[in-house]
Amino acid sequence: MNWQEQDWRDCVGEVLISEQSLQARVAEMGAQISQDYAGQDLLLVCVLKGGVMFLTDLMRQITIAHGIDFMAISSYGAGVRKSSGVVRILMDLSANIAGRNVLIVEDIIDTGHTLDYLLNLLRTRGPASLRVCCLLDKPSRREVPIEVDYLGFSIPDKYVFGYGLDLDEYFRELPLIATLRPELCAPFVRESAEG
Ligand code: PRP
Repeated sequence: MNWQEQDWRDCVGEVLISEQSLQARVAEMGAQISQDYAGQDLLLVCVLKGGVMFLTDLMRQITIAHGIDFMAISSYGAGVRKSSGVVRILMDLSANIAGRNVLIVEDIIDTGHTLDYLLNLLRTRGPASLRVCCLLDKPSRREVPIEVDYLGFSIPDKYVFGYGLDLDEYFRELPLIATLRPELCAPFVRESAEG
């Protein structure tokens, strides 16, 4: 599918989470994080690329001083919409996280392989604490158990895009989360249903 030739509105099955609902929930999460980390050092570690919209909205809702850093990780090959289970680091942190309170900021947990890998890796670097803040969770897809400390929304096993999540790298900029029209994602729907 040449997504760049599509109007995203024609790709939407349904708006799963509106801009208003997203912003309201992100504000709640930011307030909770501000309260929980009050008086402590805090470093947000954003997992690129999907986490970037969530990070930039979340950090504007966190009222305590905090730092940010980025990692790029992928368990999905180009053009593939199913986790391979093999996670690769595409870009590592610039910060030394030893002794710091690290909060991972992710867009979505699907199988859990990405976060499982990341948590194990970052633990070896000696952070004072290591927690997870994730916008979306597809619990029915989980293959590896993950403890999420801050969760935005639990969603059904549907292909979703917008607000950082892409359709083959397009439409990350949308301010809402939408499902893809079923007729546009037939190969993925089969793949997903087969797990
Ligand atoms: C997506 C998402 C998570 C991961 C979750 O990243 O951003 O990092 O998959 O899947 P999992 O729980 O099955 O491991 P993706 O590899 O698509 O890269 P992107 O963030 O650059 O879109």
